[in-house]
Amino acid sequence: MKQPVYLDNAATTALDPEVLESMLPYMTQHFGNPSSSYSLGRVTKSAIEAARKTVAQILSVKPSTLIFTSGGTEGNNMAIAMAVNELGCKHIITSPIEHHAVLHTVEHYAHSKNLTFSYVKLTATGEVDYENLEAQLVNQSKQGKKCLVSLMHANNELGSLLDIALAGKLCRENNALFHADCVQTIGHYPIDLKACGVHFATAAGHKFHGPKGTGLLYVSDEVKAYPLIFGGGQERKLRAGTENVYGIVGFAKALELATAGYDSDSKYITELNHFMRTQLKLAVPGVSFNNPANSLYTVLSVCFPVDSQSDYLVTLFDMKGICVSGGSACSSGDGGSHVMKAIGKAKSCATLRFSFSKHTTREEIVEAVEVAASIFQNKEISIA
Ligand SMILES: Cc1ncc(COP(=O)(O)O)c(C=O)c1O
Repeated sequence: MKQPVYLDNAATTALDPEVLESMLPYMTQHFGNPSSSYSLGRVTKSAIEAARKTVAQILSVKPSTLIFTSGGTEGNNMAIAMAVNELGCKHIITSPIEHHAVLHTVEHYAHSKNLTFSYVKLTATGEVDYENLEAQLVNQSKQGKKCLVSLMHANNELGSLLDIALAGKLCRENNALFHADCVQTIGHYPIDLKACGVHFATAAGHKFHGPKGTGLLYVSDEVKAYPLIFGGGQERKLRAGTENVYGIVGFAKALELATAGYDSDSKYITELNHFMRTQLKLAVPGVSFNNPANSLYTVLSVCFPVDSQSDYLVTLFDMKGICVSGGSACSSGDGGSHVMKAIGKAKSCATLRFSFSKHTTREEIVEAVEVAASIFQNKEISIA
């Protein structure tokens, strides 16, 4: 059976064979518990610390500031919990287009704690209005309320990018803590976390050809870190539980490969993204795009004309062998995209998100565009 065309790499990516190879010895011969003091345990403990060193070097931070987690969701939960439970934050500034791993966590603490939150103003294309962010920070500071700002570096549906250094500077000027959800950017851009001025940053290995269920939380050494999961002394007592050794090894290897391939991979993927955009314009009358001008290169958010098929687009593409997302994969089935609603496009667009990786081919893009043409023009086209 022919493999489907996979154009949903913002949801997850295929494991790189080299990453799998790096993990295999820790699934077989090196199986010791890293907390055991004998040789088998020391081998796995060393592998974790070597992985931490590799990742720290790539992100320009100290190894001691990194906590390995189960993914983006856990890191986001942990950062927000630390800020509100331990670090004195009484107000959270976030945006309505954050991932639910942030939005639902903020709502949870707003209900259970003496805490308020507000949304920063966004442009029509989902970019942060920095004047509004600054005004909100100044206002909270005047009220004597310590703030946490939690904003994503890149939006997983629209591709809109945060000026992370500017947001970091505004937070520091107003004595606020800054959490950046970097799940869609770490592994896709060279990032110097220290220079960005973030206090917390999160990443997930499966977004850049690493293993699922692996992630990272960076906690700047300017703030004291606290655990969310209690138990043993793993991860310097910040995340209890026997470590996912092969996952951590795979996470570091995937980040190493992504960093080494950044120049050529990002250029290749950007070109694919432009090619699909151009071809869709020719093939589907009335098509437009939701991405802002400065956008994540891995994501193309397409606004198809609204018609009677709009609710079934993901299924129609799937029936023709194309895997694509109707928003973020995590929100499918719960009433449409909160992101499209927040930017006021939920009704005017039938939105599909196409997202690419270094494994995506031009032929696959051609196939997807031909399927789009057959769905929207009810005719077969053939792109030379
Ligand atoms: C921006 C963003 N944050 C957080 C997450 C959650 O990451 P994970 O699925 O690794 O928990 C995702 C996943 O799609 C994401 O895109």
